[in-house]
Amino acid sequence: MMADGWLEVAHRDELQPGMMKRVDIAGQRYLLANAGGQIYAVDDLCSHEEVSLYLGCIDGDTIKCSLHGSRFSLKNGEPLDPPATEPIKTYPIKISSDHIYLMKKTA
Ligand code: FES
Repeated sequence: MMADGWLEVAHRDELQPGMMKRVDIAGQRYLLANAGGQIYAVDDLCSHEEVSLYLGCIDGDTIKCSLHGSRFSLKNGEPLDPPATEPIKTYPIKISSDHIYLMKKTA
């Protein structure tokens, strides 16, 4: 845990390129993904149906849903293929002393 709203969610070793981690913070699930060395944090739930994107796979800088195949940009959460039409949320990440921190935004 870190002050000023940043939450420690992983150690860098847990997220080598191509790896994902799902974290639950106060009942909300987030997905961390290392796409080609860049770490992103997005909502774990697909915007199409309530399916965990953790069950999908990283494809370039997108996460592909395992159920109907929509890909979402890990950079901005936008859906790139049907059937999903709504974006997923993305969250700021920072890395300090090999620990990964997520900024949980409140709506
Ligand atoms: S549940 Fe993800 S694309 Fe349908």
